[in-house]
Amino acid sequence: MTHILAIDQGTTSTRAILFDAEMKPVSSAQVEFAQHFPQSGWVEHDPEEIWSTTVQVCRTVMEAQGITATDLAGIGITNQRETTVVWDRVTGAPIHNAIVWQDRRTASICEALREDGHEPDVKHRTGLLLDPYFSGTKVKWILDSIPESRARAARGELLFGTIDSFLIWRLTAGTAHVTDATNAARTLLYDIRAGEWSAEICDLLDIPMQMLPEVKDCAADFGITDTKVLGGEVPILGVAGDQQAATIGQACFRPGMMKSTYGTGCFALLNTGTEPVVSNNRMLTTIAYQLDGKPTYALEGSIFVAGAAVQWLRDGLGIIQEAGQSGELAASADPTQDVILVPAFTGLGAPYWQPECRGGVFGLVRNSGPAEFARAALQSVGYQTRDLWEAMRADWGQEASVTLRVDGGMTASDWAMQGLADILGASVDRPVMQETTALGVAWLAGMRAGIYPDQTGFAQTWALDRQFTSQISSDVRDASYARWKRAVAAIMAV
Ligand code: G3P
Repeated sequence: MTHILAIDQGTTSTRAILFDAEMKPVSSAQVEFAQHFPQSGWVEHDPEEIWSTTVQVCRTVMEAQGITATDLAGIGITNQRETTVVWDRVTGAPIHNAIVWQDRRTASICEALREDGHEPDVKHRTGLLLDPYFSGTKVKWILDSIPESRARAARGELLFGTIDSFLIWRLTAGTAHVTDATNAARTLLYDIRAGEWSAEICDLLDIPMQMLPEVKDCAADFGITDTKVLGGEVPILGVAGDQQAATIGQACFRPGMMKSTYGTGCFALLNTGTEPVVSNNRMLTTIAYQLDGKPTYALEGSIFVAGAAVQWLRDGLGIIQEAGQSGELAASADPTQDVILVPAFTGLGAPYWQPECRGGVFGLVRNSGPAEFARAALQSVGYQTRDLWEAMRADWGQEASVTLRVDGGMTASDWAMQGLADILGASVDRPVMQETTALGVAWLAGMRAGIYPDQTGFAQTWALDRQFTSQISSDVRDASYARWKRAVAAIMAV
């Protein structure tokens, strides 16, 4: 048993990565799947497609390496968080499409709960805000919308889970209904201080607690795969939501350490140690990881448009053919121009939380063109990261690391990472290992299986590819950040 299979079930694609005994990725496979938009602001996935693509990529990487189930010491699962599935306990069939984290259909439920004054209590218990982003109101919506479902859930006939939980149920042929503390912490139903589902919030949302999974540590015995899936029994030993898995993969184990992952959006987490820190800046309080029954907490800031701004340059404006060209184009921009893009295509996330506002471009002159738009798009990611950086450090109130560990597709651009270091006035550290999310859960599973090092040993394997440090003066930095803040204020006023 020499290998670990990591499943990374993301928002737009399902991936599997096979790690060898030295924690090196030796094979990977990725399949995209359909996004369903039944109404404006609604986003759904077909859980059957999530399941079939998962099985497909797992088998692909195993076959590519000539690996069988007996060569696997364990499986790690990381996943898009908050996305909600409700399924039949007997047949395993979902009663509705998965409602994706991006889905805004429960905005009015959240608004009504806020108006009734529930937000402070919800925030205290869960660390989260009353926003459609989280699972709780999505479960409520399904139970409100599908006839008989609430009564069936109360009789124990229907189960709820985030994607990790649904996949484990399927992988184990319905023998394990479990999740881990990091995924539970994103549901709006989990009391992150007490470490248990909140009866009060389930009552508030009219969600029968019989439908909730058992919550485990991130490294635990989650179940054994049914032989029909991978041709043999394999233990599932590591689970974490994808942003928490990246925090683990980046070895941000000390309080004050911070990572930022650049995918479609950007998610930054600051390790705050053994105590949850309450945010005064509308950051989220969440569980970074839970090992040996002890949660480590984090502050999290989420921005919805990061890589999506580069996709917009490519697909919306058509000024680049592929994402990798954005840095080169940005570097050729006219240095005398100050074009600012606020990419609030789907509203603004942390720290503004303005779902209704939309984007804007400022500072256009007669000869502003593709290069200036490319620069503005990449800089917008830096400015938004600075917003999170400022807010989290203010909340944390203690000495935080002056280094940001980064990962995700956009970090391949040296230009973007230099720009980020300039805007933050801090070091931006890009590791050699870019598969941090999959590595995080591979390590959890491998450590549990006894083939990978302990936490300290794992942290020592983190290796720097390149460090970017600020090359601009603080006057220039402060002036450009002040312009960004004025641009954000302007779009919120429109
Ligand atoms: O909270 C949502 C996040 O977990 C989704 O991540 O990488 O699938 O877009 P990703």
